[in-house]
Amino acid sequence: MTVRACVTGQPVTYSRSPLLHGYWLKAYGIDGAYEREEVPPEMAADFYRSLAARGYAGCNVTLPNKEIAFSVLDEADESAAALGAANTLWLDGGKLHGASTDGYGFIANLDASAPGWDGARNCALVVGAGGASRAVVHALVGRGFDRVVLANRTLERAETVASLFGPRVRPLAFDRIAEVMGEADILVNCTSLGMKGSDPLTLDLTRLRQEAVVSDIVYVPLMTPLLKAASAAGFRIVDGLGMLLHQGVPGFRRWFGVTPEVTPELRAVLVEDLRAKGQLEA
Ligand code: ATR
Repeated sequence: MTVRACVTGQPVTYSRSPLLHGYWLKAYGIDGAYEREEVPPEMAADFYRSLAARGYAGCNVTLPNKEIAFSVLDEADESAAALGAANTLWLDGGKLHGASTDGYGFIANLDASAPGWDGARNCALVVGAGGASRAVVHALVGRGFDRVVLANRTLERAETVASLFGPRVRPLAFDRIAEVMGEADILVNCTSLGMKGSDPLTLDLTRLRQEAVVSDIVYVPLMTPLLKAASAAGFRIVDGLGMLLHQGVPGFRRWFGVTPEVTPELRAVLVEDLRAKGQLEA
């Protein structure tokens, strides 16, 4: 019988998850399907509770439903419990399980794309304090960084996120970023700045140590202004597309029973999709 999964949220029209999981289903010759389900937040709780009745083995959850999905889980994994949000749901023994795989995807992408990036684990500098930032901060703390400095335009939001994770995460006002730039082993943009149609994130990278890695979770455009500047200055850069690819691995394994690989061929398919939609460049 065909195993079915889907991406849910509102809107799901632009989600690249069907392309990602569709690629893997074909590559591994699995009798499976990965669909799109437009699920407005007011219908989300019912939808997730009735996944089995709808014939789904599980689903991905995108904006704005991640917190609602978390609230209806029977079992939340450690990441979902820490963030109060879930992006990957699966059924097991009649129970609804959930995980937040963004942090896993973020770390797995760095491990694959910039080996040794976490050699020192002294200080990570994260800019932005939204939902994506929480997942990244949680993952960096989990990887054992002594200090995660969280800079945000609205300082109170950074303080709120920091308070979830204890003393290793330190909030910082946006205009004080330069003060910690020289200590960072990794700099991560978790704001929406740099996204196509938005202002760029302009940071002075001159104090950044040459071994530092610069990473962006924005992948439209693939080469954000921040990554371009970092690359031109000779830093190792890691783009946001890899995080998208890697965050899909745990879900695919749960639904279809195969641990899929993130390969250059898969990445090329996604890059081609970005190119076709004019989203490679700013
Ligand atoms: P997500 O959940 O996807 O991370 P979000 O919750 O909308 O998205 O968060 C967007 C992030 O980008 C926030 O950190 C936001 O800063 P504020 O908390 O101060 O709003 C940041 N951001 C958006 N536009 C910005 C701008 N023009 N300058 C600085 N930061 C900006």
